[in-house]
Amino acid sequence: MEADKIWMNGSLVDWADATVHVLTHALHYGTSVFEGIRAYETDDGPAVFRLDQHLLRLERSAAQYYMPLPFSHEDLRAAVHQVISANGLHEAYIRPIALRGYGVMGLNPVEAPVDVAIAAWVWGAYLGEDGLKHGIKAKISSWRRIGNNTIPATAKAGGQYLNSILAKMETQHAGYQEAILLNELGMVTDGSGENIFVVKDGVLSTPPISASILEGITRNSIMEIARTEGYEVLERDLARAELYHADEVFVTGTAAEVCPVRSVDDHLIGEPGPVTQRLQHVFHEVVHGRDPRWAHWLDPVSAKAPAG
Ligand SMILES: Cc1ncc(COP(=O)(O)O)c(C=O)c1O
Repeated sequence: MEADKIWMNGSLVDWADATVHVLTHALHYGTSVFEGIRAYETDDGPAVFRLDQHLLRLERSAAQYYMPLPFSHEDLRAAVHQVISANGLHEAYIRPIALRGYGVMGLNPVEAPVDVAIAAWVWGAYLGEDGLKHGIKAKISSWRRIGNNTIPATAKAGGQYLNSILAKMETQHAGYQEAILLNELGMVTDGSGENIFVVKDGVLSTPPISASILEGITRNSIMEIARTEGYEVLERDLARAELYHADEVFVTGTAAEVCPVRSVDDHLIGEPGPVTQRLQHVFHEVVHGRDPRWAHWLDPVSAKAPAG
């Protein structure tokens, strides 16, 4: 997974040298905010998918935790481009993180410095190639999703992922590939790292922000693509049994992309259906720059990566 260089606090350092002190505030209390972004190969070189949206979400997550980012939107955008070029990547998973650093050990981090780093490496299908083709086995986790009044799910902060990690470990231990979490009201929220959609009688439904989901950028992209393709898309609360009775279920995320779900709690949904397949196909064309309708979602990396 390693690449050569990581951008750290304004300059490129060797992969092995991108380190922090053990008394880093974020290491103890989860006070970091981060993004997961992908760049895809296109005919004009690598292009970052919806980079502006990801950086805006990073800025919103930081604001949620009163964390001043020492770099502007434009600085961070240029840094993402720089990391991809410097590592000669044709496609990449990009991980920017802003964290409360070394200097304060009390809970209130406002006096701690803010460090910012951006790494990029090649990361294939998060839920496996077989998952993308035939669908994954999912299970409702016994862990409830963090609530709107415990930790806001709309920020992408390090500490909140303990919730997803418990759910992911529990379901993988039980022999499933992905967890689906319910909220305190028992309604469907997210996978451990994906948003979820069901298809019933040709209509798509996905849980609303108020259900305590991360407002996924892939979710937003798929909603827009699906509507343009003529499908009705609803944001509404979903009961768990609606997953069992759906015609199709799929999850979306930067890492997972558009991934079909073949069963939930051992209720068979089956091989990917026509709506999932269509959206998977259009998404694939869009991110690789082959669909001019959404060319504005791609941010081409100016310096081409060396051939090879
Ligand atoms: C809990 C959760 N929900 C949804 C998503 C999907 O968000 P996006 O499509 O912006 O990657 C993620 C991934 O970041 C996530 O961690």
